[in-house]
Amino acid sequence: MKKVRKSRTLSSKWLKTKILLRSKEVRAFVPETKLLNSTNLFTMLNKHRMVYVKPVRGTSGQGVIRVERTGGGTFTYKVDKVKRRFVTYNAMFQSLSKSKLHRAYLIQKGIQLLTYQRRIFDIRVMVQKNMKNEWEVTGYIGRVAHPKKIVTNYHNSGKPISLELLIGAYLSPMNTQAYINKLKILGLRIAEQFQRQHPGFKEIGVDIGVDTKFKPWIIEVNTAPDPFIFNQLKNKNMYRKALRLARNHGRFRR
Ligand SMILES: Nc1ncnc2c1ncn2[C@@H]1O[C@H](COP(=O)(O)OP(=O)(O)O)[C@@H](O)[C@H]1O
Ligand SMILES: [Mg+2]
Repeated sequence: MKKVRKSRTLSSKWLKTKILLRSKEVRAFVPETKLLNSTNLFTMLNKHRMVYVKPVRGTSGQGVIRVERTGGGTFTYKVDKVKRRFVTYNAMFQSLSKSKLHRAYLIQKGIQLLTYQRRIFDIRVMVQKNMKNEWEVTGYIGRVAHPKKIVTNYHNSGKPISLELLIGAYLSPMNTQAYINKLKILGLRIAEQFQRQHPGFKEIGVDIGVDTKFKPWIIEVNTAPDPFIFNQLKNKNMYRKALRLARNHGRFRR
């Protein structure tokens, strides 16, 4: 008999957003998301002023674009370190269309991320099935962007830093712990929701952005999350645990 292997990964950010929106508990943390077309982008810019345009199947921050409508009525977009300005929406969209080739893109409400030394940062929360087959948060870490970039990814010049340090720059030690606990619970809720929709999933890595009002937003859920980022922390406990469970789930086997 042929063994059916339940899928363990999902690359489409669009499908993953839909999974999140099906959960009442998680929905409130999902930034508004639409597929890219000219009308949707115009509407989203009027509503949110700043949005992110991303490949539906991107990784490592590649091809991620930040689009803005300025107070003066001009439109800008920024890819990598280069920002371009346009006097009309149509001129901007035309230029954008040329650079985005033939891939599918989505538009997401832009989060005004917290900063550390004037660089934006976001958070990776690692949630894995443990040896008892229960979901467990095995790691969390902050990722600080390169000063000129709009993405925080490690493979895009982002710098991993302990979350205690980053949140601790804003909150007292007690409130920092409480806030991190809140993020861990959110990570668990997301894992449970993914499990309900895709029983084969064993690990997820959630990218969480915290805005200037301290509200956490789910930027992305990764279904093949990188445990090696935790090796950047001085304390190796998270790294050891995350890697051990990832190996246990059959990843990184030689
Ligand atoms: N809606 C958003 N608001 C603010 N920053 C964002 C947003 N979407 C993406 N980013 C930034 O871009 C990075 C890469 O986007 P992400 O959706 O995680 O795609 P990738 O698969 O390339 O990692 C994020 O880690 C974050 O730093
Ligand atoms: Mg990401």
